[in-house]
Amino acid sequence: MEDRYAFLTEWCDPTAALVRRYHLFYYPKDGSVEMFDVKNQRIFLKRTKYDDIHQEDLFVGNRVNVFSRQLNLIDYGDQYTANKLGSKKERTLALIKPDVVKKIGDIFELIYSSNLIVTKAKMTKLTWSQAADFYAEHQSKPFFNQLVQFVSSEPVVAMELMGDEAVSTWKKLLGPTDPAVARKEAQQSVRAQFGTDAVRNVCHGSESLAAAARELEFFFPSAIGHGPSNTAIFTDCTCCIIKPHAISEGLTGKILNSISAAGFEISALEMFNLDRPNAEEFYEVYKGVVKEYPSMVTELCSGPCMALEIHGTDVQKSFREFCWPPDPEIARLLRPNTLRALYGKDIVRNAVHCTDLPEDGVLEVEYFFQILDG
Ligand code: TYD
Ligand code: MG
Repeated sequence: MEDRYAFLTEWCDPTAALVRRYHLFYYPKDGSVEMFDVKNQRIFLKRTKYDDIHQEDLFVGNRVNVFSRQLNLIDYGDQYTANKLGSKKERTLALIKPDVVKKIGDIFELIYSSNLIVTKAKMTKLTWSQAADFYAEHQSKPFFNQLVQFVSSEPVVAMELMGDEAVSTWKKLLGPTDPAVARKEAQQSVRAQFGTDAVRNVCHGSESLAAAARELEFFFPSAIGHGPSNTAIFTDCTCCIIKPHAISEGLTGKILNSISAAGFEISALEMFNLDRPNAEEFYEVYKGVVKEYPSMVTELCSGPCMALEIHGTDVQKSFREFCWPPDPEIARLLRPNTLRALYGKDIVRNAVHCTDLPEDGVLEVEYFFQILDG
């Protein structure tokens, strides 16, 4: 029998202000989808080939876009799908320690290479007491003070990683606690490659599923507005959004590396899942002006995006030059080293949004880091 994956999904219908439920079926053989309306007990979308959905995006907790509808995958629709796609899926916390935040692109690349995906991310600066709470289990250890001091000295990046056996996969990828040992015993590990000593050992990883749940709640609490705050400074800044298509294609690490290599300073970073009304509001200035507006909105809310605050004198102009022109095909001809030329697919899926008008830099950064992250 043909493979078929089933999910229970919810769609917030903006016109009726209603939450509608559908069963979503995905047929991996030909990449087709089918939708069934749960309330009215009838087919809503007959089986249709749909290239923009991929098996790796199909897991509970994620959101997928099917013909401009954002569907929240809230449960597996049958035991077969749960066993096949869900049984080993775990979430864990990864924390990039202060001295290697500048290596974030490389760390993303290593994470992707081991088949984990980053589902949440936030740059934050912990206070001494937040760091002490986070490491409470090590309170009695001789290295506690030094560790807490170090982790609260400069911004860190907290991430939720998801994938098969994410807790142990990430610990294994990190390698032994001490980078000197890692360089002997696990040369490919993150700590072997980027670690300095037992304190400055690149990243933290949760020890168990229970620890992961606790530590994820610490950085990404279910109650909005209770987690450690972002690091946006809202002056001399411009806004860059890594678009959902680029994230799902696994380009985040490469894009972050390119931005750093070009000498730009990333002063805040956070992943967001935009609702359609938010995406419409953010792109408001393009409405009626740019014919791609509706497709731009659909792209921006089709999955997680990553917002960056780029900081520097006159950075609005220089960063825009680093992205311009918007059409990747043209960019590849005229300006092959720009972000769109390197990572864009077409004018809508052009890898990044960047602030167009210098005076909008602060406003766009505020939209993400103040309004959406409220
Ligand atoms: P631990 O949980 O033992 O290591 P891991 O990070 O590999 O799970 O310790 C937590 C952190 O404490 C560790 O990442 C760095 C710091 N630490 C030291 O500074 N010195 C030490 O001797 C040890 C064991 C840990
Ligand atoms: Mg530990």
